[in-house]
Amino acid sequence: MAYGLLNGKRGIISGALDEKSIAWKVALKAKEEGATFTLTNAPIAMRMGAIKQLAEQCNAEIIPADATAVEDLENLFTKSQEVLGGKVDFVLHSIGMSPNIRKGKAYTDLNYDWFKQSIDISALSFHKMMQTAYKLDAISAGGSIVALTYMAAQRTFPFYTDMADAKAILESIARSFGYRYGKYRQVRVNTVSQSPTPTTAGGGIGGFDKFYDFADKTAPLGNANADQCADYVVTLFSDLTRMVTMQNLYHDGGFSMTGISEEVMELIHKGE
Ligand SMILES: NC(=O)c1ccc[n+]([C@@H]2O[C@H](COP(=O)([O-])OP(=O)(O)OC[C@H]3O[C@@H](n4cnc5c(N)ncnc54)[C@H](O)[C@@H]3O)[C@@H](O)[C@H]2O)c1
Repeated sequence: MAYGLLNGKRGIISGALDEKSIAWKVALKAKEEGATFTLTNAPIAMRMGAIKQLAEQCNAEIIPADATAVEDLENLFTKSQEVLGGKVDFVLHSIGMSPNIRKGKAYTDLNYDWFKQSIDISALSFHKMMQTAYKLDAISAGGSIVALTYMAAQRTFPFYTDMADAKAILESIARSFGYRYGKYRQVRVNTVSQSPTPTTAGGGIGGFDKFYDFADKTAPLGNANADQCADYVVTLFSDLTRMVTMQNLYHDGGFSMTGISEEVMELIHKGE
């Protein structure tokens, strides 16, 4: 059911790789709620072609941009304003990648060049996006910026290795930039800390399936899926959350506030 929450709003949605992507679901939901937007992803992701299908479905233009390249981001914000016919009201940062995770490196054996890439792609890109938008004055007052994150920024999850550090930086950037964007431009900045979700990025993390089940059995509401995440993100783009900023918002069925569940205790007991 649509509520027209984003009627008349213009946006930029990054990170839709395939139909499992959280950003893909956000795009469909934003369209349903009345928004117009551009889609962006790294030029290399374009080759896979799936984003074109989403673009057709949403009647959206694709503007390729490597989120680590400031000139690409300048082009993204400039072109998006041209295409959409004015300043942007919302931006989704849904970007993450760790070469160390991809190549199975343990946290005690990280490749530092790859570590820098993890930080650049997964965290600094968020600062680069906002700094570019800020300098171009591309986001209207009352606008909303959301980035996706994971609770490994607060608590240790062994398999998340250097992405945990990248997410901690990402969330810190949301607060630091959020203060300035709020104070000087009336734009809000938040991160949504999502449950484990079976996507390309999520599934690439070692032990994902087992951890997915553990989180699902721990959270009183179970894991939140990508569609539900999209619903939440859309509320954050809408005018209903005008005074929410600089927050890290858990969207995880209660996992982050649960010590242990009866279900998990039972399973451990049975396994003895
Ligand atoms: N899947 C999960 O379990 C989970 C949980 C919490 C948070 N998140 C976060 O959600 C976000 C989206 O991930 P997803 O799970 O939808 O997976 P996904 O693999 O579908 O999306 C990741 C996206 O990042 C893009 N990307 C990588 N490098 C880029 C670059 N240099 N420039 C521009 N884009 C680039 C990829 O092309 C891809 O579209 C990420 O920030 C991820 O860390 C995921």
